[in-house]
Amino acid sequence: MSSTITVLGAGYVGLSTAALLAQAGFKVYLVEPNPSRLDTIKQGRSFFFESGLDPIIKLGIDSGSLLPTDSYEMGVPESDFVFSCVGTPDNPDGSSNLSYVYGAAETALRLMQPNAVYIQKSTVPVGTGKAIIDKFDVEPGRYVSNPEFLREGTALQDTLWFDRIVCGGSDETVLSRVVELYKALEAHRGDIASSAGIKAGTVTGSYITTDLNSAELIKVTANAFLALKISFANSIAKLSDAVDADINGIMDAVGADKRIGRAFLNAGRGYGGGCFPKDVSGLISSGLEHGIDLEIMQAAQQVNESMPGYVIEKLKDRLGGNLSGKKVAVLGLAFKKGTSDTRKSPGVKIANLLDTFGAEVLAYDPQALEEAKEDLRRSVVLHMSIEETLVDCDAVVLATDWEELVSSPAQIFADHLNSGAVVLDAVNAYKNYIDLENLGFDYTGIGR
Ligand code: UGA
Repeated sequence: MSSTITVLGAGYVGLSTAALLAQAGFKVYLVEPNPSRLDTIKQGRSFFFESGLDPIIKLGIDSGSLLPTDSYEMGVPESDFVFSCVGTPDNPDGSSNLSYVYGAAETALRLMQPNAVYIQKSTVPVGTGKAIIDKFDVEPGRYVSNPEFLREGTALQDTLWFDRIVCGGSDETVLSRVVELYKALEAHRGDIASSAGIKAGTVTGSYITTDLNSAELIKVTANAFLALKISFANSIAKLSDAVDADINGIMDAVGADKRIGRAFLNAGRGYGGGCFPKDVSGLISSGLEHGIDLEIMQAAQQVNESMPGYVIEKLKDRLGGNLSGKKVAVLGLAFKKGTSDTRKSPGVKIANLLDTFGAEVLAYDPQALEEAKEDLRRSVVLHMSIEETLVDCDAVVLATDWEELVSSPAQIFADHLNSGAVVLDAVNAYKNYIDLENLGFDYTGIGR
């Protein structure tokens, strides 16, 4: 199938989707209005860190199958499919600002051929598709909700070796055409993975076609449920702290029950990023709009918001009740490993809270220093290595589960920290903690 595709928006989802589809034999226009981002992509690179993405962007640019542009007019009129992957920033009340979603739809739908399909990939509240169809007088069958489930850090693997592809709409023929696009991608996935230099996956995923509202709701429900699992684990971690139990062991045993599963039960400093916090508040807002009080999600949100403060309290307690004048290293500022993204990052919140409480804060991250700068308080001092950051510190908070951090030898801590310093593992993942304890450090986690 030699279709032409336009992808609107070169964020995490749009850029990955465009680069992958360009490797599956499609001609792909990628519309990005930000000149500096566009320029970087045209040079064959991504403007954020995502494993495997740069090599396939480069291949797409060099072969001419990936065509970055700032103009809708260039690709949309000749496209068979238009993917909307534009951003949905937060409104002050926590709901999603949909102005880009509506703006992109209005412009693209005006330029599209009569048979072309508009595919919504941006995460939108349930009812958005129907509202776009009504507002812009779209033929309902041509609008498809195709929510994205990729995770930052493993965007390519998640897309190529997906658990499920969900397509929601009212015209079965159109839904099959969208499914065919993904089947083409699936057929090329081994080659694409080797071009990208990423490991091939093993999952055999499914294709699910459904109605529009259900597809929209599937996406936010999946994220909300994962967020709920994390907040549940964090609630039990607090109890586990109170009774001297070990949350990692508890969740290993609980998660061994196949009905529950171990994934997303890692307790620690809570979830961050551009998706969970926003999707949880979005779901709460959708519920309220329809008179449904999603108390369970409000509780998940409250637990999550309490976690950075809980980390600080635990550290303060270990340091004798006072943070003022203490020198504290924060290792990890990205909201999780494998990304330079610091949106709503617990590591950044922890560093800022420590600074507010009068600690002298030093911080390090393998990829996210640049992005973290914007949200960090000015007095937080950034360093370029773990070693530099640890010098003469009274305590360390491990706030992101980067391999470099969780596998770092205990001797590095011994060589640089003050003797007897507190090591608070806020991701419960540091591997050499027994060595640390043997070296006389006060190691502790969240719920351990
Ligand atoms: C999440 C979903 O996992 C994706 O399926 C979805 O496509 C994406 O949102 C989206 O809506 O675009 P992402 O935000 O990239 O992906 O990151 P996750 O790996 O889900 O992690 C989210 C946060 O939860 C991170 O801060 C992570 O550290 C934290 N987390 C994760 C925990 O605290 N405990 C866990 O057990 C797992």
